[in-house]
Amino acid sequence: MTRADDQSLVLPDPAAVARAAAAFILQCASDAITARGRFSLVLAGGRTPLAAYRLLAQAQIDAGRWHIYFGDERCLPPEDPQRNSLAARQAWLDASGIPGDQIHIMPAELGAEAAAGQYARTIAGAQPFDLVLLGMGEDGHVASLFPGQEHPARLSVVPVRDAPKPPPDRVSLSYDCLCAARQRLLLVTGAGKRDALAAWRRGDELPVARVAGCGPLILMLDEAADIA
Ligand code: 6PG
Repeated sequence: MTRADDQSLVLPDPAAVARAAAAFILQCASDAITARGRFSLVLAGGRTPLAAYRLLAQAQIDAGRWHIYFGDERCLPPEDPQRNSLAARQAWLDASGIPGDQIHIMPAELGAEAAAGQYARTIAGAQPFDLVLLGMGEDGHVASLFPGQEHPARLSVVPVRDAPKPPPDRVSLSYDCLCAARQRLLLVTGAGKRDALAAWRRGDELPVARVAGCGPLILMLDEAADIA
């Protein structure tokens, strides 16, 4: 059963979410390339988007017009299995045909502050992004923006310390940066996310609510996560 309201789409299972997400991304790319000759996409970390990335690896894309950025990264060595960039490369990017100089990986191995400063310079001329992909943590975090952690408003990229989700040191696009994008796509699957969805819908002040409240956002979730 699929139900869609003005912002959310409930799909039967994670595979259906991945298919819908990949289709949405490809449509956004087509629209952006038609309108502006390029498509800038911010990738989400974590496990949820990986199935969609694997579907994108099978798609025919105008790779020379795609520009890839990351919403957040863990402060670990580049080849660490927990790195979001490595997961995205293995699921999709290494086989995508997107030119290497159009894939902008967060240099999180430099440490949170140095990486945030360098990545802010990297994205300075690239905003607004066309599409930002997001997952959501079981506490309602998005990217590496966690409940109860505030960051200076003026920054586009923030260093994160003491993150409740390991590893503690991370780099993240800021709320302002995520909100400046033309469109956001949030992917949520699994019963583990139900409590955070319920808290969001109750009106709790969570990172996911803050980002959802600042501009167009499509939520794709599976029935296991749905609290209807
Ligand atoms: C990270 C991610 C994080 C992730 C959520 C959901 O680096 O951990 O950027 O924000 O999107 O924690 O993670 P899962 O998709 O693995 O449930």
